Amino acid sequence: MEKIVVLTGAGMSAESGIQTFRDAGGLWEKYRVEDVATPEAYARNPRLVTEFYNCRRKQLLDVQPCRGHELLAELEGEYDVHIVTQNVDNLHERAGSRNVLHLHGELTKVTSSREPNNPHYIKQLNEDEYEVEIGDLAADGTQLRPFIVWFGESVPMIEDAIRLAQDADVFVVIGTSLNVYPAAGLLNYVPRHIPIYLIDPNEVMWHDPSRLVHINKGASEGVAELIRLLKKRNL
Ligand code: APR
Repeated sequence: MEKIVVLTGAGMSAESGIQTFRDAGGLWEKYRVEDVATPEAYARNPRLVTEFYNCRRKQLLDVQPCRGHELLAELEGEYDVHIVTQNVDNLHERAGSRNVLHLHGELTKVTSSREPNNPHYIKQLNEDEYEVEIGDLAADGTQLRPFIVWFGESVPMIEDAIRLAQDADVFVVIGTSLNVYPAAGLLNYVPRHIPIYLIDPNEVMWHDPSRLVHINKGASEGVAELIRLLKKRNL
């Protein structure tokens, strides 16, 4: 079975109603990264950061996977599909994708604020626990923090993601501005002879555009187009 590796970003969830970060009206127009998405922000004002992620987590209760999420899950019938996502929502999983690697953490999980990557302290929240309060403690007695990789923190899953990129028979990029590293750097690990399809309704700056087959569409229409191209390729 051919291995398809798919790097997704916020644009993958845009059609589910979750706003992106850097488009007009995006999240970083409303909040400053340094106020809500860095370890320093959390140390300075844990209540504000906890509230910010409570809001984003509770939004998951109001959104559904889009057709693009569903089509990627259906692709597992014919290909060995691995999703490497920068997104912290659970929409790929809810659409049925089984191999999902979260580079930047997961909204539905919380952890120790002293050892955030210690698996003993990472806790999956049930839907009726999506509100974390100051005073809710992890198993090590520290304040429960979001299981999110903040700017400036290490990306523990990047080595696994690099191996996937190196082994891909087809690499797909959906809905990311390729602004944030090391995630964006994954494209540099894709062997030169392997096609990279980029699904995005807008132009995306990349240092080597000749490497990209740009499907200039949104995630749902774009994945449908990708499937048509893959079928032609395998004929
Ligand atoms: N379908 C596909 N792509 C879309 C759609 C859509 N309907 N709408 C917008 N896009 C594209 C935009 O053109 C843009 O290229 O999605 C991309 C969104 O880019 P960003 O907002 O920068 O999001 P992302 O690349 O995922 O950000 C990376 O930055 O803030 C951090 O940790 C956060 O994971 C995030 C990382």
